Amino acid sequence: MKVLGILGSPRIGGNSDILLEQALAGAKDAGAEVEKVVLSKKKIAGCLDCGKCNDTGICTIKDNMQEIHKKILEADVVIHSVPVYFWAMTSQMKAYLDRWCAFFDGQWRLHKAYRQKMKTKKIGLITLCGDPNVSTADPIVHSFKNTCQFSGLKLLDVVQASAAAKGEIANNEAAKKRAYDLGKKAVI
Ligand SMILES: Cc1cc2nc3c(=O)[nH]c(=O)nc-3n(C[C@H](O)[C@H](O)[C@H](O)COP(=O)(O)O)c2cc1C
Repeated sequence: MKVLGILGSPRIGGNSDILLEQALAGAKDAGAEVEKVVLSKKKIAGCLDCGKCNDTGICTIKDNMQEIHKKILEADVVIHSVPVYFWAMTSQMKAYLDRWCAFFDGQWRLHKAYRQKMKTKKIGLITLCGDPNVSTADPIVHSFKNTCQFSGLKLLDVVQASAAAKGEIANNEAAKKRAYDLGKKAVI
């Protein structure tokens, strides 16, 4: 069982990172092999809508997304952790998500090359926002929920938390527990 963590915040050691680490710890304690990808340390261009992947299933842009596509395909569960930037997901996470285009064919069905591997995959989501009202991050939840529904992937759970200063979430035991439990749930 492989659990892949995707960090969508550029703030290493920040709130999204702390909760993602909690989730990965939960998964590890439940027996999973875990790995974390920090998107801000990768070169990920925006999707060009060139349509080439519709036939081949391979993205023509040569950057780090190739290796990440491979990691996604190999993982049983992919847990994303991302803060709200201007009422939406960070640009790093959006560029990553748009590049999921390679998993689909011209009719927006899962590409036959990946159907088998993708249909059993589970997705987790953690959102952070400075606003005390965690539903400020709902647009991100909407995006991931619909992506999962559209692709037939199972959305495991969503953890939404609020924190502003770097590392502030470390004091929020309830949020840390929810993230840890999300990781554990990934393995069941
Ligand atoms: C460029 C930028 C835009 C932000 N926009 C919002 C926002 O629209 N709503 C909000 O509640 N918080 C916003 N925040 C606050 C972050 O979501 C918050 O500080 C979060 O804890 C950062 O998570 P991190 O430590 O994982 O980077 C913004 C922060 C930055 C840097």
